[in-house]
Amino acid sequence: MLVSAKDMLEKAKAGHYAVGQFNINNLEWTKAILLTAQELNSPVILGVSEGAGKYMTGYKTVVGMVNGMLEELNITVPVALHLDHGSYEGCLKCIEAGFSSIMFDGSHYPIDENVAKTTELVKLANENGMSIEAEVGSIGGEEDGVIGKGECADPNECKAIADLGVTMLAAGIGNIHGKYPDNWEGLSFETLDAIQQLTGEMPLVLHGGTGIPADMIKKAITLGVAKINVNTECQLAFADATRKYIEAGKDLEGKGFDPRKLLAPGFEAIKATVKEKMELFGSVGKA
Ligand code: 13P
Repeated sequence: MLVSAKDMLEKAKAGHYAVGQFNINNLEWTKAILLTAQELNSPVILGVSEGAGKYMTGYKTVVGMVNGMLEELNITVPVALHLDHGSYEGCLKCIEAGFSSIMFDGSHYPIDENVAKTTELVKLANENGMSIEAEVGSIGGEEDGVIGKGECADPNECKAIADLGVTMLAAGIGNIHGKYPDNWEGLSFETLDAIQQLTGEMPLVLHGGTGIPADMIKKAITLGVAKINVNTECQLAFADATRKYIEAGKDLEGKGFDPRKLLAPGFEAIKATVKEKMELFGSVGKA
């Protein structure tokens, strides 16, 4: 059964580790992430962007697929199904479809509007036993065509949003979605520290987990990050493994064109990436 992300993140914050949010795109992604979490006895959050939800034909399909897999694969570790960077309308649809967690990304609105919309959605999430993530200060890079600069959030605005009763809070600290450019200045630990001092127990979320060096990840966890989002890295690993299979001509040997064979190296590559991240985040054995 899907669970809200509240318990797993409160435990992670208190235990000084982070739970990974891995974004899903299809059946192979979902199966790879769920099996790895179960093998490592780790809690996990499946992230679904609005674009990925649409690609998979809608949120109801996603809920059906994930619930089916939890049962058929005997997944017993805590799993949350979470809308990533949701709009107000997207959040309403996911509540209706049976997600267990939502993110409302109101970071592009003026703070008053972000507060008003987040307040309404916190109420709805609570009524439905779901966790809710809010965002302050846009995360840089491009995700589903939304481009942000990688700004640092205002700690006082973070406090204002945290006080609305959200479950976890994403704050821009110089992080960027996708690959980091060579001239990236790194995470702003000063900002993160100031945010944690004002928001206390609130589990903080680090977006743009792809390509952040291990030492920065570890330091961010010591400063209150309890959820780390990873998307691009699984995509790169999948593409790389699939390209090698095809370049080696394996799809031309025997029944190598069978999608169950063709997609197998990419599937294994996602599993290896998720394992590496769970080990780095410290969530192994914490289910
Ligand atoms: P990356 O694609 O950079 O790993 O970021 C993922 C993310 O933050 C999803 O919200």
